[in-house]
Amino acid sequence: MSWQTIDRTTVAEEQLGPGLSDAVRDKVRGFFPRYATKQAALLPALHITQNALGYVSLQAMRDIAELLELTPAQVLGVVSFYTHFWTHPKGRKTIVLCRSLSCELMGGKAVKDAIQRQLGIGEHETTPDGRYSYMTEECLAQCDDAPCMLINEKMHKRVRAEDVERLLADENNDKLDIPRSDLFDAPPEG
Ligand code: FES
Repeated sequence: MSWQTIDRTTVAEEQLGPGLSDAVRDKVRGFFPRYATKQAALLPALHITQNALGYVSLQAMRDIAELLELTPAQVLGVVSFYTHFWTHPKGRKTIVLCRSLSCELMGGKAVKDAIQRQLGIGEHETTPDGRYSYMTEECLAQCDDAPCMLINEKMHKRVRAEDVERLLADENNDKLDIPRSDLFDAPPEG
């Protein structure tokens, strides 16, 4: 066997994905005054990008690096640290199941098994019809109502394994009672 050299500096055009629009760039710039350095705006920049594109593409990482005067490797380092950020496109709805202690103790594992059985996908995967993506995250701050899960931004509480089939079939399972404000809107002037 001989060593093989892999050139990681060239990426095929189709692997780069979409870049940042002017509107996204402006929104990220709107965060600069909140921090001592523009580099510190990296997390809001990633949230804004994922909200706009559905994920953080390689081109978006390059654009963010340029905008914040970081290296692409520094941006990738943060993206890959947080499970919240996706590096490939997601389905129309994202299920986020809590995997922390209270939910685990209250039957979260059975809910997880039911979701994976129902959808036939694992962590950070998407159903072939593009309807659902699935992932687990640490505590969703709703421990009183364990086990719980999000479908997009709608919180589902005290979910039982036997509820999963009905829940996933419900077209309105991501409808919010009260629309939330956009946390990543630029701060008001003055
Ligand atoms: S442990 Fe599941 S919401 Fe806190």
